[in-house]
Amino acid sequence: NIAKLEERFQAKVDAEQKIEPKDWMPEAYRKTLIRQISQHAHSEVVGMLPEGNWILRAPSLRRKVALLAKVQDEAGHGLYLYSAAETLGIDREELYEQLLSGKAKYSSIFNYPTQTWADIGTVGWLVDGAAIMNQVMLTRTSYGPYARAMVRICKEESFHQRQGYEILLALSQGTEEQRQMLQDAVNRWWWPSLMMFGPSDAASTHSAQSMAWKIKRKSNDQLRQEFVDATVRQAEYLGVTLPDPDLKWNEERGHYDFGEINWDEFWAVVKGRGRCNKNRLKTRRKAHENGAWVREAAMAHAEKRAARQKE
Ligand code: ACO
Repeated sequence: NIAKLEERFQAKVDAEQKIEPKDWMPEAYRKTLIRQISQHAHSEVVGMLPEGNWILRAPSLRRKVALLAKVQDEAGHGLYLYSAAETLGIDREELYEQLLSGKAKYSSIFNYPTQTWADIGTVGWLVDGAAIMNQVMLTRTSYGPYARAMVRICKEESFHQRQGYEILLALSQGTEEQRQMLQDAVNRWWWPSLMMFGPSDAASTHSAQSMAWKIKRKSNDQLRQEFVDATVRQAEYLGVTLPDPDLKWNEERGHYDFGEINWDEFWAVVKGRGRCNKNRLKTRRKAHENGAWVREAAMAHAEKRAARQKE
């Protein structure tokens, strides 16, 4: 009976054994994973857009090559994650449909515009930095295929974070104008990066259950704090100011205190009212339509090959 199965499932999770696709799992666990993994996959794919915008404008061949490789990596991450979601019994077409119809969520961060070259460095440093903080925890998530996808993704993300930081190091040692461009980018990306970790623990709908199932291993607020603690020193090294007057070391807690996030802005962006939401979906839909011939050709090729093997 179900209660016994659930008990055995939880015991397995508690014993740190991975859950694999063919194992019994509660329906709600499956649903939560499909929701989180697909939102994550969509984020990787939509995340290509703000940076793809800059490939032709990167200031040197070396910068272009690194940025191009980075954007391609994001496409790869999307594919690993869609594959991991498919092991839970959902079709990739259905997931695409959820994204393209605007029904599915993806990370709020990708609805902000990349206005200058310093934004590309800042996205690498802060956005990929925040993504890694969250994803390192996910290498230990209870669902096997998700955990394994995360190991490779994290390795690539650390390259992304470093290429971003290196762009900013160059700007920080540049002209006054370049240093101002850097500071302006940090001013605009700091708070949205903190929002990536999701609502506060008190307002997070899924956290308690996801922690009990060990899908999440650390809470939204815990990860946000770790990110702030790690980033302040990197900002000092760059010589930039983080735009938060309340940011200061708290000796007693052994952590940095920081100001209140603008949650109205967060929810507005999540609900589709950010600066780039409409444009991102429009671009994604167009890319999907333009790629129709590739999907058709791949299907025709696969069918021909299967027919040949039968002969
Ligand atoms: N942007 C958009 N939506 C968000 C964000 C965000 N930054 N944070 C939370 N939400 C949504 C959740 O998806 C959830 O919506 P839903 O119920 O409609 O699915 C709702 O807000 C409530 O949040 P939580 O209860 O805290 O949701 P959850 O437990 O799923 O935690 C988190 C959110 C931390 C983002 C988690 O899903 C996660 O770890 N995901 C995997 C990592 C990921 O997706 N990273 C994407 C950005 S990194 C990159 O792509 C480079």
